[in-house]
Amino acid sequence: MRKLTWFSLVLAYGMLWGGAVLPVGAAITPDQRKELGEIRKEIGKVAGHVTKKEFDEARKILNDAQEKISKIASDAKVMETDKTLAPILLQIEKQRATLDKKAAGAGQGGINFDKEVAPILAAKCANCHNDERSSGGLKLDSFAGLEAGGTNKSLIVAGQSARSLLVARLTANGPARMPKAPQPALSAVEIAAITSWVNQGAKYEGDKAKKFQAAAAGGPRPNNLPPPAIARANGNEKVSFKNDIAPFMVNLCVGCHSGNNPRGGLSLVTFEGLMKGGASGRVILPGNLEGSRLWRLVGGLELPRMPQGQARITRTNYENLKVWLEEGAKFDGPDPKQPLRQIVPTEEQILAAKLSKLTPEEFVAMRKEKSEDQWKRSNSKETASTVESADFLVMGNASEDRLKEVLGWADEHAKTLRAAFGAKTDEIWKGKLAIFVFKDRFSFEEFPRVIESAEIPRDTVGLARVVPSFDEAYICVEDIGDQVTAESPGMKLSVIDQLTGAYLKRSGDKIPDWLIRGLGLALASKDDKKNEFIQAQPAMAIESLKGLESPEQVFEKGKFSSADLGPIGFTLVQHMLAAGGPSKLGMLIDKLQSGAELAPALKDVYNADLKTLGMSYGSMLGSRKPAKVKKK
Ligand code: HEC
Ligand code: HEC
Repeated sequence: MRKLTWFSLVLAYGMLWGGAVLPVGAAITPDQRKELGEIRKEIGKVAGHVTKKEFDEARKILNDAQEKISKIASDAKVMETDKTLAPILLQIEKQRATLDKKAAGAGQGGINFDKEVAPILAAKCANCHNDERSSGGLKLDSFAGLEAGGTNKSLIVAGQSARSLLVARLTANGPARMPKAPQPALSAVEIAAITSWVNQGAKYEGDKAKKFQAAAAGGPRPNNLPPPAIARANGNEKVSFKNDIAPFMVNLCVGCHSGNNPRGGLSLVTFEGLMKGGASGRVILPGNLEGSRLWRLVGGLELPRMPQGQARITRTNYENLKVWLEEGAKFDGPDPKQPLRQIVPTEEQILAAKLSKLTPEEFVAMRKEKSEDQWKRSNSKETASTVESADFLVMGNASEDRLKEVLGWADEHAKTLRAAFGAKTDEIWKGKLAIFVFKDRFSFEEFPRVIESAEIPRDTVGLARVVPSFDEAYICVEDIGDQVTAESPGMKLSVIDQLTGAYLKRSGDKIPDWLIRGLGLALASKDDKKNEFIQAQPAMAIESLKGLESPEQVFEKGKFSSADLGPIGFTLVQHMLAAGGPSKLGMLIDKLQSGAELAPALKDVYNADLKTLGMSYGSMLGSRKPAKVKKK
């Protein structure tokens, strides 16, 4: 008999917790194994409590153990018939049987019908079994109804759960299982309470005609208390609402708990809604885990389990929720009336926070690992050599000598950048700047294609990508050889050009592209005024300007191709240097970096609007080669 009950229990729970389809590779983790060890230890104490007639203590241990195992099974996505779990559950069942027998014999410590059984029947059964709707001829809204039974008459054989229809239907399979689908099965603990009550003699001493009260449900229920004052976090909490709780609520709960008719009357759109609670009243009692309905539903202590449906919160979410509730359910967002979606940090913010905790050494290690991975992904067939200095990590399929040469130029230019921008001696790029050197066009093009899903324009021989968190900080250069012609800047100039870009992009994309390219070329040609490529820039700029309709369009974002940006940027920067020298240009960059828009920043520094500046730039170019400027 026992065996049969056990097996049907297992099937019922297997369906409930494990789901019908088991994912391949589901397994119990070492951490969970450790927890199971602790659960076994706890169960070991039950016999002692029973001997000392501490029945309530014993029952609590068994219930806790059962809940924990259900949780583990659901987290690990294994059935409770799993070979690790099954013996422990069997143990629990044996202990429970002994406990029931001893408690009944001692005439104490039994299950209290009013407190522990009636609320289950009221909440889970009475909706189908009542005066108006007595499914199966059965009413389960008062003790009289339970005693009368349904079409099959007697539901209960006192002292013998295995022969009681009531218990049999709770653990049955398929359509016979009560509560009937789609309502979910009762939890293991609920079934155990009813089973134990039957085994202890199915005693009841109250008014048999009195209707059961759902609200008197077991455990503290947060009925219609007013919403609590919102407690603010002080920064010493172990768990942050904004970072650890809100993200999973947004993903797993808000879908059903929002809109005009949120499920269960509970809106989880804002923190305020969460604290206000739902149809049953408050769902969070700060500092009171067991009393918080949200915890009971998420932890499966009460049904239906949340989130409803297939989704499950992770073990980490679960642990965080526990600590957050215990720590007083404090709020660390800007405004409790603001949608949770808005206070949840973006992936970028989470990453930046993580990176900001790295030591300089850890940052460099991260850069190396990441760069090697990027190289492998984009150029899997070619191994890269690496050379490095304090500021740079040079990596590529060019010869090692060539990489060293590039590193030499880069180190020299880092000095120029520090001097030109008054940078302190500390690191320019956190974790160093990676410089990828490609010996041919093919491998160069492959990199942005694989890593950034971007095609490189035909005339482009280098690119720079740096984000403010320094999660990404690299430049790519195609080795175009050292020869300088009107069409080709030569390798050194190209490297310097991209390094300048990598410097200016540290503040994000606040500096316009023409200024980045222009400064890059300006700094690159500083010591080499006779460079043929540089000398060809003004004529090329004039060609590129021909399509413009008005002078201020020079500054328009996206107006020029990347091939045109170099010459236009270079000549514009030359013009501005002529107008105000390096100090004014430095002021302009400062303003832009701290977030100013281009037009007001230019107005501030050069006291001229975009149109005036565009016109004076045009006439400067025109005075060089008047014949080629298209007059409008
Ligand atoms: C969604 C509706 C629904 C819910 C909820 C529900 N039942 Fe039922 N129940 C039925 C229907 C319909 C029948 C008759 C058909 C059958 O026996 O399967 C029935 C029959 C039964 C019977 C058999 C009665 C007899 O004499 O044949 C028992 C026992 C029973 N229910 C117990 C429960 C218990 C205990 C609960 C709560 C834990 C519950 N039911 C919840 C719909 C429901
Ligand atoms: C698929 C829809 C769905 C999802 C997803 C969902 N819920 Fe629910 N939730 C419901 C329904 C339906 C109810 C009402 C259940 C009932 O009363 O029987 C409910 C009720 C609740 C209640 C009780 C409200 C009250 O006052 O009685 C809480 C608390 C709750 N959900 C929390 C959550 C949390 C937390 C999540 C995410 C982890 C979540 N829910 C995800 C559908 C959902």
